[in-house]
Amino acid sequence: MKTTKNQQCYAGRTILVLMAWYAMSFSAYAATADHTQFKPGEIWTDTSGEPINAHGGGILYHDKVYYWYGEIKKGKTWMPEANRSWNGTRVDVTGISCYSSQDLYNWKYEGNVLPAVKDDPNHELNTSKVLERPKVLYNRTTKQFVMWIHVDSQDYALSHAGVATSNSPTGPFQYIGSFRPDGSMSRDMTVFMDEDGKAYLFHASENNATLHISLLTADYLKPAGRFVRVFEGRSMEAPAVFKHQGRYYLVASGCTGWAPNEARSAVAESIWGPWKELGNPCRGPEADLTFRGQSTYILPVADKPGTFIFMADRWNQNNLPDSRYLWLPVTFTDKGFEVLWQTTWRLNK
Ligand code: GAL
Repeated sequence: MKTTKNQQCYAGRTILVLMAWYAMSFSAYAATADHTQFKPGEIWTDTSGEPINAHGGGILYHDKVYYWYGEIKKGKTWMPEANRSWNGTRVDVTGISCYSSQDLYNWKYEGNVLPAVKDDPNHELNTSKVLERPKVLYNRTTKQFVMWIHVDSQDYALSHAGVATSNSPTGPFQYIGSFRPDGSMSRDMTVFMDEDGKAYLFHASENNATLHISLLTADYLKPAGRFVRVFEGRSMEAPAVFKHQGRYYLVASGCTGWAPNEARSAVAESIWGPWKELGNPCRGPEADLTFRGQSTYILPVADKPGTFIFMADRWNQNNLPDSRYLWLPVTFTDKGFEVLWQTTWRLNK
C-alpha cells in the first residue's frame, strides 16, 4: 500500500510524540524512584536512574550533605602485559566522580570532579595511568576541600600519592601533583581526620608489605614529616580507619589484587600505635572472603554517635565497570567490632 507524504509525516509525528512521552515518563519515574534501603551487591542507581560509578570511594560529610567520591570505572576491561603475572586488569582512567546525598540512600550525580587528561600521554592523570581510592577532607582553616588519591603508572611502579584541591565539595578539583610520602612508596591509601583537626595518610608502602601512617601538614597538602611503620610484613591493602569512644580502629584487606581475601582489623589507643590486630571482623556467608569484597571506607553516620557503615567494593575483575558496592552495618563487641552480612537493611531511625 502506498502512503502519501502527509500520511507518512503524520505517522512519523505520532511515533515521535509517543517516544517523547515514553522517555519523559521513564525519566520521571527514575527521578522520583526513592531508595529506602541498602542492597549490598546489587546495582545501585543514582537519582537519574544511572548506575552509581564511584569505586574504591570515600565519603565527606559537609554542611549536612554527604559527598561520595570514587573511581569512574568505564569502558573496556583489559590486561596490560606488565600486569599479567598478578592478574592486574584495568580500565583506562576517566576521572573521579562525586555524588551527593542527605539520606545515604539516594545519590545525585555531581559530575566528574577530577577528569583524566586525554591529550598529554606523560601527564599523571592521563587515561593510560592509574587513579585509585580518592578520599576528600575539608580543611576548616584554609576552607579548601583536599583530595588524596593513589596515582600510579600502568604497572604500579610509580607508587605515588597525589593531591588535588577545590573550593567546593562538588569540584572541579585542581590537580597539584604527586610524590612518595616521606620518601616511601605509596599504593592503596586512605585519609583520616581526628577530632582535633589533625589529618593522617594511611598508605600501603614498601611494595605493599608494610603500612605507613603519616601526619599531614595543617593545610593537609603534604606529609608533615612524622610517620610510623605498622603491621610490618603483613601486606595490608585497602585501609579504612574510624574512631569510636576514643579508640582508633582499622580494617584492611590482604594483598591479592582484585581477588577477594579475608579482611583484617586492628585497634589502637593512639593513632601512632601500638596497633593490636583483632582478626577478621566479617560475619555471615563468605565472611572469609569479606563477602567477596574489599574494604574502602568506614563511614561515621552523622548525628548517630556509634553508627558506622562498612563500605567495600565487590570487584568484577573481568568487567570492572560492573563492580558493586557492599555497605554493611558495624556493631561493637567486647573485643572490637563486627561487620554482619545483610541482603537488605536500613539505618535505625
Ligand atoms: C587491589 C587494590 C585496588 C587495585 C587493584 C589492582 O589490591 O586494592 O585498589 O589497585 O589491586 O589490581
